[in-house]
Amino acid sequence: IQKRLTPARILAMKGGKPIVCLTAYTTPMARLLDEHCDLLLVGDSLGMVLYGMETTIGVTLDMMIAHGKAVMRGVGKACVVVDMPFGSYQESKEVAFRNAVRILQETGCDAVKLEGGEEMAETIAFLTKRGVPVMGHIGLMPQQVQTAGGYRSVGHSEHETSKIRRDAHAIGGSGAFAVVIEGTVEPLAREVTAAMHIPSIGIGASSACDGQVLVSDDILGLFNDFTPRFVKRYDELGKRIAAAAAAYADEVRSRQFPAAEHTFKRRP
Ligand code: KIV
Ligand code: NA
Repeated sequence: IQKRLTPARILAMKGGKPIVCLTAYTTPMARLLDEHCDLLLVGDSLGMVLYGMETTIGVTLDMMIAHGKAVMRGVGKACVVVDMPFGSYQESKEVAFRNAVRILQETGCDAVKLEGGEEMAETIAFLTKRGVPVMGHIGLMPQQVQTAGGYRSVGHSEHETSKIRRDAHAIGGSGAFAVVIEGTVEPLAREVTAAMHIPSIGIGASSACDGQVLVSDDILGLFNDFTPRFVKRYDELGKRIAAAAAAYADEVRSRQFPAAEHTFKRRP
């Protein structure tokens, strides 16, 4: 059995070949993506993508653990990171530790990810010093949608720029092995990537990052509620699924399916 990439190996990829990351929520998808990715992220984006929620706020720890387990059953080589959902780490570093340990122990994943800049650096340090590998997440932070008043790229104003500079500095020095930078203008993503000793994994944060992550269902055309500007569609599986369902429905209604080859005959 091939061993998975470790968080330490991901850290060592800083400044080298781009780190490839996609989301995965299920065993079959993890099996398909594993050999092509360095990192698989069990993102709390599953709230929207799988459950039809409007934001990630309603995603629970139990949901993340169930999907983390499913992904682990399909993975051989990629490093698996599971998102800590809203409410599972903000209250205190002790609560964060307890819930991170639940995720690690119950799923067998390699690391957790949590959103936040300066304000979360102490929590990340507490976790990493006690054996929990952590990936950070700065820039646009979807779990703050209700206080931010929506999803909007960040780093346009001087105020936002200096906040993200401080966030990158704090997370870069917190013990995190990598950090997602989401929805951030190119010059700032480039600047903080150069300033940090840990890899930046960009999503809507230009090619200047050390790696890239996207939501698999977005690039496959499986999730069509909205498509952000930073998503590239590599396929239109949603349209292909609808066409397959339509063909099946036609054949059932015209009694073309099932045909002889799909039918059990009594043994002579
Ligand atoms: O939840 C998610 O899928 C994420 C990534 C897109 C970074 O956090
Ligand atoms: Na997330």
